[in-house]
Amino acid sequence: MTAGRALAALLALLLAASGQILQREASFTISLRTVDNVTVMIKLRPGVLPICRIRVKHAIGFELRIKPGDNTTFTFTCSTPEKYFVMEIQKNIDCVSGPCPYGDVHLYPPRLPRLNRTFIWDVKASTKAGLELKFSTPWLRQIEPGETCPDFVSYNINSCIDKATVNIGTFCRNGSVSRVKLLGGVVMSLHLPWDSPLTTSGFNIANRASIKRLCIIESILKGESSITLMSPNYPLGFPEDELMTWQFVIPPNMRASVFFHNYSLSNCERKEERVEYYLPGSFSNPEVFKLSDSQPANIAGSFNLSLQGCDQDAQNPGILRLLFQVVVQHPQVDENVTHLVDLSKERNMTVTIHFEGWPNRVPLMSEPICLICKDPRTCDRVLTLVSGAIYKIFFLCKDLSRLRITAEKGISCVDFRWCERKIYSLLVPKIITQLPIRLHKFIWKLSAPDLINVEITSPSLKLQQHLPEQRCNTSYSYSIVSATPETELNVGVFCPGGSIEKIQMRNNITISLKTYSKGFLNDSDQQDLKMSFVPHIKDESTFTVSPDPKAKVYLQTPNWPYGLPPYVSISWYVIVPSKQVARLGFSKDRMGITCETGRAYINIKEETLGAEEIVRREDELLPKPRNMYHDFWVNISSCKPVDKTQLTLQFWVSLADKQIDLGVILAVVAGIGVLVAIGLTVCCVKKKKKKSQNPMVGVYNANVNTQVPGKKGLFAKGRKNNESHVYAVIDDAMVYGHLLKESNGTVTPEVDVYRPFDGPVGSLPPSPPPFSFRKDVKHSPSNEELPPLTDTDHDTYTFTHQKLGQTEDNGDTNEKSNGDTTTSLMENKEQDGLAE
Ligand SMILES: *[C@@H]1O[C@H](CO)[C@@H](O)[C@H](O)[C@H]1NC(C)=O
Ligand SMILES: *[C@@H]1O[C@H](CO)[C@@H](O)[C@H](O)[C@H]1NC(C)=O
Ligand SMILES: *[C@@H]1O[C@H](CO)[C@@H](O)[C@H](O)[C@H]1NC(C)=O
Ligand SMILES: *[C@@H]1O[C@H](CO)[C@@H](O)[C@H](O)[C@H]1NC(C)=O
Ligand SMILES: *[C@@H]1O[C@H](CO)[C@@H](O)[C@H](O)[C@H]1NC(C)=O
Ligand SMILES: *[C@@H]1O[C@H](CO)[C@@H](O)[C@H](O)[C@H]1NC(C)=O
Ligand SMILES: *[C@@H]1O[C@H](CO)[C@@H](O)[C@H](O)[C@H]1NC(C)=O
Ligand SMILES: *[C@@H]1O[C@H](CO)[C@@H](O)[C@H](O)[C@H]1NC(C)=O
Ligand SMILES: *[C@@H]1O[C@H](CO)[C@@H](O)[C@H](O)[C@H]1NC(C)=O
Ligand SMILES: *[C@@H]1O[C@H](CO)[C@@H](O)[C@H](O)[C@H]1NC(C)=O
Ligand SMILES: *[C@@H]1O[C@H](CO)[C@@H](O)[C@H](O)[C@H]1NC(C)=O
Ligand SMILES: *[C@@H]1O[C@H](CO)[C@@H](O)[C@H](O)[C@H]1NC(C)=O
Repeated sequence: MTAGRALAALLALLLAASGQILQREASFTISLRTVDNVTVMIKLRPGVLPICRIRVKHAIGFELRIKPGDNTTFTFTCSTPEKYFVMEIQKNIDCVSGPCPYGDVHLYPPRLPRLNRTFIWDVKASTKAGLELKFSTPWLRQIEPGETCPDFVSYNINSCIDKATVNIGTFCRNGSVSRVKLLGGVVMSLHLPWDSPLTTSGFNIANRASIKRLCIIESILKGESSITLMSPNYPLGFPEDELMTWQFVIPPNMRASVFFHNYSLSNCERKEERVEYYLPGSFSNPEVFKLSDSQPANIAGSFNLSLQGCDQDAQNPGILRLLFQVVVQHPQVDENVTHLVDLSKERNMTVTIHFEGWPNRVPLMSEPICLICKDPRTCDRVLTLVSGAIYKIFFLCKDLSRLRITAEKGISCVDFRWCERKIYSLLVPKIITQLPIRLHKFIWKLSAPDLINVEITSPSLKLQQHLPEQRCNTSYSYSIVSATPETELNVGVFCPGGSIEKIQMRNNITISLKTYSKGFLNDSDQQDLKMSFVPHIKDESTFTVSPDPKAKVYLQTPNWPYGLPPYVSISWYVIVPSKQVARLGFSKDRMGITCETGRAYINIKEETLGAEEIVRREDELLPKPRNMYHDFWVNISSCKPVDKTQLTLQFWVSLADKQIDLGVILAVVAGIGVLVAIGLTVCCVKKKKKKSQNPMVGVYNANVNTQVPGKKGLFAKGRKNNESHVYAVIDDAMVYGHLLKESNGTVTPEVDVYRPFDGPVGSLPPSPPPFSFRKDVKHSPSNEELPPLTDTDHDTYTFTHQKLGQTEDNGDTNEKSNGDTTTSLMENKEQDGLAE
């Protein structure tokens, strides 16, 4: 007795301890009445391991089918059958041969095992009659294929026409779709997850008169809301030559707007694909639109929208599909405020009003919508106005700060005689700044034939280059890009209030004024940017800089940080007031590139008679900070680098009063006297370390046809723009051979481009060959192939300017040995000593 009890207790304990065993015992009885015509199917979820089984009496298996009239009791061999099994409950409703069971649709049979289940109602009906599926609140919301519902409860509606099935759509609960009317049969399925508490189907079926179309979907929108809907079969094609309608019930005090977000058209053989609206208050109903049209907006009240397909080309039918959104808003405060935008006097200008982030960002459908309207019914999220007309626009938008303006103006010069001496003001017109919308960008597109270039000036404000060292803090900036059909050169970002007086640029130029804050409204009165077309310039771009006496000015090569494209030359002309001295320094020691073809150079020269030219090649150290006493040029030209690293250079200029350096100047003037006494034509200053050189002389020649004995004018060849600088190259072993004894005795005549040298020389300074990055300028590498680089030293060296052909033996130094030479010597005072 006690033993039996103990055993029973133990058994109970064991059972309790193992829910598994207890669960295994749980059995289900499903009893199906014949009249209900319901079939229940329990089967393994595809792809799942067959660990769990179904036991019916003594039989065991993976699938169970319970037919109408069956009474089946079964158990699962595991405690969590919901992990392995799914259930399908299909009810066939035949409205053709018998009476149709209209009314609420129940989830029958009750007390089903907790498995993911799909209820399928397969309703056969005559195509002459309409069927209506009416949903109880909270109604339905259509989802895109692949989307899931938050509660995993979803409805799928399929229509059966002529044995073909059309997927009307997949829906989640909680939306605004209240009714779906269909023609003929429907296959309606409701998917419930195993743990769903739902006990009702949420819809009823009623019969209706024929609707004469594939379907009607009714949505009831209450309050501010939005709904997204798709054409049947989306993203696949809407059935050929079909018609369907969406009805929208909108409170009369609200406004609705329709947006087609995604559509495609099929290839119609006959008829045209279109949408038709019945709009409240319209005298021209139905209003017919193309799918590509801007759709009606600001609709005051309920309306309907029909989609009409066409007879498709059998060979290549294409796809008609549509995904659209209806947005319901309160009437906007601004809706009766019209803004006059008079572009009648503007030329070649477009003004686009758009949402923030356009065109890169597509606003989320849930975001509040701002509409810009040209007339009460033509509203869109983006509106473009074109010069030559007057517009009355208004905004349907709660928060105008979400809108932006982007405007573009084209200025072109076709014939230089027409644009010569014409000065264009690049100003944002008042019409634009007066609108209550923030200006995002104003773009000027300046175009001209190849040999006409562009000059911009900012006489009163002057421009500052935006650099890490000197950030623009103004409410707007100008981004300048020069472009050919093949390439783009980003000249830089500039803002008002700096020291750049003028920029000359080649190619077609785009200047984008970008605003950064509301402060632009205040600053817009002080814009000052002028543009004119100028004859062809020699460099890719030339900057005229007049530094502020108080601040250090930083300047930087274009296309930062990617670097100058190959064979581009850029020049800066820095103005030094007569009573002041400028200090010029580079932000790094070296150019930091290795050339594959051509050479990169920096040429610095004061704009005064006989001034020395400082030349640095890419394999040399850049000049140390130095004083400049006159206006001077900084010219930089790039080569084709061996790798992706292209030439980037930054330098600075600061001004100081001249007196400070007076003592030094005097000292150097004294030094010059000594040199002159020695009778040197050319002064050359060197450091001690000296290696083998391939000495060469570069000759600057303003006239192209420089031919040097035994040499071709290398850069005169194959270049298109004859007006560019031309730098001929002289093999100085021939011309100055007798001066080259210093150079280790190894006088290897150089065969191509100019290289800086450190032997004594008397000639005009070499300069780099200028190239455009334009494609049409052919660069012939065969002419430019260089012998392997020798390990060069990085001396600073200078040489005075002399006339071409001048050699040492003419002894003609007096001409150039003026104050300017003094400067050149002074620059080298830090060097170790004088050679020779
Ligand atoms: C049950 O469904 C079948 C198949 O659709 C149909 O032939 C039959 O008439 C239906 N029975 C009832 C009672 O609705
Ligand atoms: C189904 O069968 C069980 C026993 O197997 C019985 O208890 C139950 O009453 C039956 N239900 C119907 C509707 O016949
Ligand atoms: C049941 O439905 C849920 C939610 O849709 C899903 O995550 C789960 O994998 C389904 N289980 C089976 C066995 O299909
Ligand atoms: C229905 O949707 C609204 C907004 O879409 C949400 O706020 C609400 O919580 C949802 N209700 C249910 C029951 O999911
Ligand atoms: C529009 O259709 C394209 C192509 O099918 C798809 O990539 C894109 O996501 C769709 N956009 C929306 C809003 O559904
Ligand atoms: C669309 O609306 C108009 C006007 O309210 C109505 O006459 C017409 O029957 C409607 N059509 C459909 C298909 O709902
Ligand atoms: C705009 O004007 C119409 C007609 O004058 C008026 O009915 C409507 O209330 C006005 N809307 C607003 C937001 O003031
Ligand atoms: C107008 O601008 C475009 C480029 O935006 C240009 O091609 C065209 O020549 C310009 N017309 C005039 C008259 O300036
Ligand atoms: C902008 O920077 C300059 C110096 O670069 C300074 O003088 C000026 O006050 C700054 N302005 C503002 C608004 O910060
Ligand atoms: C500038 O644009 C004009 C007209 O669009 C074109 O003819 C010309 O070739 C362009 N110039 C360059 C350098 O790309
Ligand atoms: C514009 O200027 C006015 C007065 O001149 C000033 O009150 C306002 O704050 C300024 N706005 C901005 C954004 O700087
Ligand atoms: C620099 O370039 C300008 C403009 O192309 C030219 O006039 C000047 O002579 C050049 N200076 C030097 C030192 O190369």
